[in-house]
Amino acid sequence: MKLGPYTSKIHTEELLEVLDLWEYPKSVKEQIAKTIRASAKGIKGPHLFRYYNPRPSKVAEAECAMAGYIGTKYALAVNSCTSALITAMRALGIGAGDEVIVPGYTFFASAAVIGTCNAIPVIVDVDDTLTIDPLDLERKITKRTRAVIVVHMRGMPAQMDKIMRICNKHKIPVIEDCAQAAGGQYKGKMLGSIGTMGCFSFDYYKILNSGEGGFLTTNDQWLLTRAQSWHDCAACWRPDRFASEKREGELFCGENYRMSELQGAVALAQIKKAPKYLAGYRAAKSRIIAGLDLPKGVTLQRVADPKGDTGICLMLFMPDIESTKAALPALGAEGVPAGGIYDHKVKDWHVYVHWEHILGHKSVAPDGLPWTGVKKSDLPKYRKDMCPQCLDYLGRAIMIDTHWEFSAADCKAIAACINKVVKAAVAQ
Ligand SMILES: Cc1ncc(COP(=O)(O)O)c(C=O)c1O
Repeated sequence: MKLGPYTSKIHTEELLEVLDLWEYPKSVKEQIAKTIRASAKGIKGPHLFRYYNPRPSKVAEAECAMAGYIGTKYALAVNSCTSALITAMRALGIGAGDEVIVPGYTFFASAAVIGTCNAIPVIVDVDDTLTIDPLDLERKITKRTRAVIVVHMRGMPAQMDKIMRICNKHKIPVIEDCAQAAGGQYKGKMLGSIGTMGCFSFDYYKILNSGEGGFLTTNDQWLLTRAQSWHDCAACWRPDRFASEKREGELFCGENYRMSELQGAVALAQIKKAPKYLAGYRAAKSRIIAGLDLPKGVTLQRVADPKGDTGICLMLFMPDIESTKAALPALGAEGVPAGGIYDHKVKDWHVYVHWEHILGHKSVAPDGLPWTGVKKSDLPKYRKDMCPQCLDYLGRAIMIDTHWEFSAADCKAIAACINKVVKAAVAQ
């Protein structure tokens, strides 16, 4: 008996639904639909699962492109940066009783993932770079510290020389959270290639995006193997799926963070376009800075390596909270895309004081983990005022988003508005 061949389950209808996501006029969509339907006979639909794919996998191609772009030997595609961070920690063998250091200014996901791995988050202050303060980092290292998550916040590199020196001295792996900083550099090295592993977000709001998605980068083959094992407990990633482990530690109960071919295709196109976006953001930021004439007491955020800045955002520090509060609505009224960061009355997942899940020792299950993984006396003492520099800088910060398509005239106009508003706010 010979069965088949049968057609694919995914065919013209699915392609047209995807096309419908684009805002082409109805007439154009109808024209494309007509052309596709006319030639659909005998055309096989896509295989949207990356593994066991009879066609070259877009996810695998995106991994090669990402590794090439970041300059690491390996890249592993996953479904988010949250997944990438968990995968990185699991690859390092982090679990109950371990401590992982994270800055007090980052999106909550960077800290939440530590608890997800049943480890204890140790929250460290930031300095005037708004990235982890190396002095406080070294103070917070204990004999239980198993990793440091360094966040290149708002596209600006952390002080990687000092951080690597401290972490190498204490033999602590560094996970670079590059969710907001794809394409950024520090002293000529791409972010995500300096620490032990890099984690990237491809969610819609990031420099590169595939709606949802993420990548983990590393030069360490064993960590890659363990990361693959965690990201796909079905073990489809293994050349021989059911083979015994080659080395103790290759197989364990993992999860499913696999990226689909649809995300892979979009991510691949985005990675190829990265240099264009980065050039646009950087030009926009330097043009705005060139047009600034700031009054005494107003400063620009210190950037650890201005050349490596992605340029997605410009941060000003006002002299006090009152002038910050005066400037923000005035900038908004002028049409400048500006926002404040810390106001204790306004909830914001980017500042540690609002991480009640951590500060309040919340747990998903009656086992009380991660907080029951160590003696009570060994738990860090969380207090809302434990990172005073963070609250001071963020309370006075004005964040201005750039756009890679800003023209020279846009930048000039933005700089003029900032000069006017900031001067008036300080003079009040
Ligand atoms: C610094 C940082 N880390 C991690 C994440 C999580 O990324 P994802 O949405 O891809 O899980 C984000 C997302 O906003 C982020 O900004």
